[in-house]
Amino acid sequence: KMAAMMDLERTYIMIKPDGVQRGLIGDIVKRFEQKGFKLVAAKLYSPSRAHFEKHYEDLKGKKFFPSMIDYMITGPVFCMVWAGKGAVKTGRKMLGETNPADSLPGSIRGDFCIDIGRNICHGSDTVENAEKEIALWFPEGTNAWTSHSQGWIYE
Ligand code: TYD
Repeated sequence: KMAAMMDLERTYIMIKPDGVQRGLIGDIVKRFEQKGFKLVAAKLYSPSRAHFEKHYEDLKGKKFFPSMIDYMITGPVFCMVWAGKGAVKTGRKMLGETNPADSLPGSIRGDFCIDIGRNICHGSDTVENAEKEIALWFPEGTNAWTSHSQGWIYE
């Protein structure tokens, strides 16, 4: 059991500029905390265009790419790393679908937004990409700390 706790999967979750501007940081953090995931890194950050182009490099050829990057650099983003069993897959479920119109009520996008180009949050889609994104966004590393509630969350 203790081994499982030490070996938690990690995901990169980011609140985009619209989510920050709309005062949704608290609510989104709250959902991940309430779920039982453990926060191991967080910061408010205003990255360069180049940094976002790296983060979204797989989308470089898409028609929406330039305007999407324009929107991402309009203000600070709130960057987080959450750890826990199945954090990547469950994190994506908590966010909802890429298009808020397809997102169920109860999900973050389903509850808080309407347009695909203002979908307020990002979450890693695979464990491999999560580790890549964590290295890109937190080169300083993440925090090791003891959560004393783990025994009440994991069997
Ligand atoms: P993508 O990686 O496909 O989705 P997700 O964020 O769910 O992993 O796309 C990245 C972001 O690009 C997406 O969150 C919003 C934006 N985007 C658009 O603005 N228009 C689009 O048609 C698509 C597919 C994405």
